[in-house]
Amino acid sequence: SAAARGGRLPFVPIAPVGAAVDDLVVPGGYTWAPIIRWGDPLFSEDDRFDPTTLTAELQERMLGYNADYLDILEHPNGRSAVLVNNHEYTNEAIMFPPATTPEQLAEQRWIGMAAHGMSVVELTRDRKREPWRYVVGAPLNRRITATTPFTVSGPAAGSPLLRTQDDPTGTLVLGTFNNCAGGTTPWGTVLSGEENFQGYFRAEGTPEQARYGLRPDPTTRGWEEVDPRFDARTPGYENEPNRFGWIVEVDPYDPTSTPVKHTMLGRFKHEGATVRIAASGHVVAYMGDDERFEYLYKFVSRDTYRKGDRHREHNKQLLSAGSLYVARFRGDSPVEEITGTGALPSDGMFDGTGEWLPLVLDGVSQVPGFTTDEVLVHTRLAADAVGATKMDRPEDVEPNPRTGRVYVACTNNTARGTGTNEGATEPNPRTRNRNGHVIELTEAGDDPTGTAFGWQILLLCGDPAANPYTYFAGFPPEAVSPISCPDNVAFDGDGTLWVSTDGAPGAIGYCDGLFKVPLEGPERGRVQQFLSVPTGAETCGPVIREQQDMVYVAVQHPGEDGTWGAQQSLFPDYGAEGTVTDDAWGGPRPSVVQVWRD
Ligand code: FEO
Ligand code: CA
Ligand code: CA
Ligand code: CA
Repeated sequence: SAAARGGRLPFVPIAPVGAAVDDLVVPGGYTWAPIIRWGDPLFSEDDRFDPTTLTAELQERMLGYNADYLDILEHPNGRSAVLVNNHEYTNEAIMFPPATTPEQLAEQRWIGMAAHGMSVVELTRDRKREPWRYVVGAPLNRRITATTPFTVSGPAAGSPLLRTQDDPTGTLVLGTFNNCAGGTTPWGTVLSGEENFQGYFRAEGTPEQARYGLRPDPTTRGWEEVDPRFDARTPGYENEPNRFGWIVEVDPYDPTSTPVKHTMLGRFKHEGATVRIAASGHVVAYMGDDERFEYLYKFVSRDTYRKGDRHREHNKQLLSAGSLYVARFRGDSPVEEITGTGALPSDGMFDGTGEWLPLVLDGVSQVPGFTTDEVLVHTRLAADAVGATKMDRPEDVEPNPRTGRVYVACTNNTARGTGTNEGATEPNPRTRNRNGHVIELTEAGDDPTGTAFGWQILLLCGDPAANPYTYFAGFPPEAVSPISCPDNVAFDGDGTLWVSTDGAPGAIGYCDGLFKVPLEGPERGRVQQFLSVPTGAETCGPVIREQQDMVYVAVQHPGEDGTWGAQQSLFPDYGAEGTVTDDAWGGPRPSVVQVWRD
């Protein structure tokens, strides 16, 4: 093991932590601290965090809310780095006092927009292996929000389906939101997934819109009350929702660059996208559509990756042209052996083969009745038409850089087998799947540009002490940490899998956390809990730098069920509730956290 080789992140797994505990719990011998918190200023020390007087203009200059995806792009000198962080959504009920006037309510909606999006922040430290500090006012610091201009790339750029009265070209979109997971590309840019965009719009509710959950009802956020483009019933804004639900690409090294929305990667509730370079040099991106009974996708580039592309100009075009596929899974066990409990079939494994069904090949639609634009903008409907496999909420999908095998986190699906919904299938073998599972997918011939694959379920999650039907790649269930609702996956330098979770409290009664899962040898499937996040939070964006004995996570939505005056979490400042200072606020602050070995 890594520990036996001399101390790369050795740890004794922590015990699971009760769902009400408002602590970040790490193993013995480790220490944690936030790198940056919601409301920390990016551009000037004069900007002070005070939720009771916060304005949209100030929030634009501070870290956004609900830290999700993160990566730390280290300079080779080990002493400087760039942090890129998504801000998935806001929770106004615990961010500031309730509005008492219409003017205040309107301002809070603009604060919400400013607290969405992404942040780019420079980090520094004196020596490798030490904890980082972020640098206020550093040249690369940047906020991207719900109003930042984006260009549109790929075959659907300029499509009539993307035009509005403000943008008759269909190529210039304001903002990104609900940015969930993501991935750093081999050329140094960051991809981010626009996930639950439907909750931000009032819409007519056409069949195409309904397939994405867009409805005529007023939204909870009420952005349509302050900006008419969020009411897609308004003439001239019918297509505004079509301009969200994309993978976006940000170049963190060029603060003046305009970020891009990639239509070639399809439009759905994108969890994220992660890239692998094939032996041929083609670039492959894997993507999940995070909703019950939705699909798994991949993109294969037309052009090839160019090493030494100093300004990234060639490589930044790679995601703009190529082919888009959706996955169909086939099980190898008799259907009557898939009982819906999670009990293993007689061959001892949930496994089989599959194929990548083409939706667009080299820019040309392969779906009868759909133009290329329609496939890319109404991707879910195109995937329905070709008979893709309905999955249990595919979240993060990531190729292992050591082996090329692809890991698919299916977080849960409590609706499987209920009502008229589809029942258990071999790749989604549980009805009312509360705990989720992780699939290991192997491209045929280890060629990610191909269309055939094999697969097996690696983890059937749950608490083995309470559930007879868990599975950990054959490792004895009594010897693993309970785990539920896998969401993000990551790999350390040895190719060991790490999984972070979202939803464990409601499923197994423990706080969400981060787990190490060896994939090779006798320890394969031995799930070991590394940390636990505070009450109400999910664990996001894990980054594992085992050679530096360092782990990074985003702590998203701590205390999310609280209200102003009745907060459920005080993480990470732990100031007394009612305290309003920028270093000891009495309320929760979603944060990017570093954990290091003492
Ligand atoms: Fe935003 Fe799919 O979790
Ligand atoms: Ca089988
Ligand atoms: Ca997620
Ligand atoms: Ca999630």
